[in-house]
Amino acid sequence: MDPNGKLVIVSGGLGSIGSSLADSLADIGARVAVLDILDNPSASPTPRHPVYHVDLADEHSVASVLEDLVRDLGEPAILVNCAGLIHSEPLVNITNPTQRHHSREAWDAVLRSNLTATFNLSSHVVERMVTKRIRGLVINFSSISAQGNPGQSAYAAAKAGVEALTKVWARELGPFGIRSVAIAPGFIATSSTEAALTKEAIADLKRRTPLMRLGTTEEIFSAVRFAIENDYLTGTTIAINGGLAL
Ligand SMILES: NC(=O)c1ccc[n+]([C@@H]2O[C@H](COP(=O)([O-])OP(=O)(O)OC[C@H]3O[C@@H](n4cnc5c(N)ncnc54)[C@H](O)[C@@H]3O)[C@@H](O)[C@H]2O)c1
Repeated sequence: MDPNGKLVIVSGGLGSIGSSLADSLADIGARVAVLDILDNPSASPTPRHPVYHVDLADEHSVASVLEDLVRDLGEPAILVNCAGLIHSEPLVNITNPTQRHHSREAWDAVLRSNLTATFNLSSHVVERMVTKRIRGLVINFSSISAQGNPGQSAYAAAKAGVEALTKVWARELGPFGIRSVAIAPGFIATSSTEAALTKEAIADLKRRTPLMRLGTTEEIFSAVRFAIENDYLTGTTIAINGGLAL
């Protein structure tokens, strides 16, 4: 698909990877709309892309924000499900006498932001693509953690679910000309990675990564661009991880 002039929705588009993708997509001619649970950052009085504030885990809010977005900007041809919440916690923490079990609140929050958000937004956007006969594309953000990263029960389960949805949708939606592709980054140099991991953990990851560094948001964009431009790509996960195996 040629992204030039197409409307692209980037969920989580105020985050590290999402904001970089939104700018890079606009640079190659796409029209970009951002959905995020955060308010528009006050730093920029004239944001480059329209931002719609929504909790994507709430289906009614998703339906209503999408109506507003389509009324303002027209029909989306590409959906990038980049919203997510990275969380690390062991299943059982025997050294913590007060909270031994993985927090149930954290489990719910991680499933909601990564998996339910992707499901809700995709179901409403794809409904429009099917009824309006738009040969569209859904790009889902998974993670290397879907391979079973120890210490990330909720996040790994959510991202494995995202990869499963990607395959299901490729089969269900292929006959309508709609493609579905997942991107599974390894560890990317973002503020979210710095927030989730200690300096020592990041140094250890670099040592274990064959390319001996974190990835960049530009390298993630290049995979997104490939997914957009290659019309025979569907039902698969593109891993961008510097060769790291968990
Ligand atoms: N940074 C990495 O190294 C890395 C690695 C692998 C996968 N990923 C995935 O890439 C995606 C982007 O990661 P990032 O590093 O930019 O994270 P980030 O935390 O910087 O951005 C995530 C964005 O999603 C938004 N969001 C979360 N829950 C939401 C909800 N319920 N409704 C609406 N918006 C919501 C947040 O407000 C935030 O702006 C995520 O799906 C993440 O799991 C990131």
